[in-house]
Amino acid sequence: MGIKAVVFDLDGVLVNTDRFHYLAWKRILWELGKEFSVEDNEQIKGVARSKSLEILLQMKNITMSEVEKMRVLRKKNNLYLEYITEIDEEYLLEGVEEFLELLKFNGLRTAIASTSDNTSLVLEMTGLKKYFDVIIDGHKVKAPKPNPEVYLVCAMELQIEPDECAVFEDSRAGVLSAKRAGMKVVAVSGRIIGEADKCIESLKNLDMNILDFQ
Ligand code: G6P
Ligand code: MG
Repeated sequence: MGIKAVVFDLDGVLVNTDRFHYLAWKRILWELGKEFSVEDNEQIKGVARSKSLEILLQMKNITMSEVEKMRVLRKKNNLYLEYITEIDEEYLLEGVEEFLELLKFNGLRTAIASTSDNTSLVLEMTGLKKYFDVIIDGHKVKAPKPNPEVYLVCAMELQIEPDECAVFEDSRAGVLSAKRAGMKVVAVSGRIIGEADKCIESLKNLDMNILDFQ
């Protein structure tokens, strides 16, 4: 069965915003008197904001009232927004625009599936919005990855069956979410993550064979 639509995660696949999420969390943990390493960050990659905080509180043995959690979540987002004030097309990852042009040229439908509430803002600031037929973000779905909801809603809005969709993801939670939705998955991480069907380093120099899963 051929691929008819390609669905992309945003942070870390199309745009180099992952490090800003990382820096914002690092600052939050520093204020709480805790270290936060790149390895720690792997545990929350692709995970929604409030779920990320729960994981971090457990990891670092911190207890916090619900009110304090709300304050920290707001602060994390404000820090992230400060970090991204300057982003533009320079922050696109390698090969992104060329690959999106190639997909359009070949008549494929395209979508974004991100649980970030800042999806629209990032797409606008980097000039990517025009490439997508469907955009599903944290305002449209509540269940965070690895729940398959974000990918299932995407397929529904694209009006394409999940098994005719190929997904590009860089996180364990994201790969799991897309596989649970019944889609083909390319891990953009240089190594196979979970049940991913293929893996690549980046979107640079891709041709249409990347969508061949036979
Ligand atoms: C993406 C990122 C995560 C982030 C999540 C929520 O999945 O990879 O690092 O926590 O979105 O983003 P938000 O912008 O709503 O905090
Ligand atoms: Mg990601």
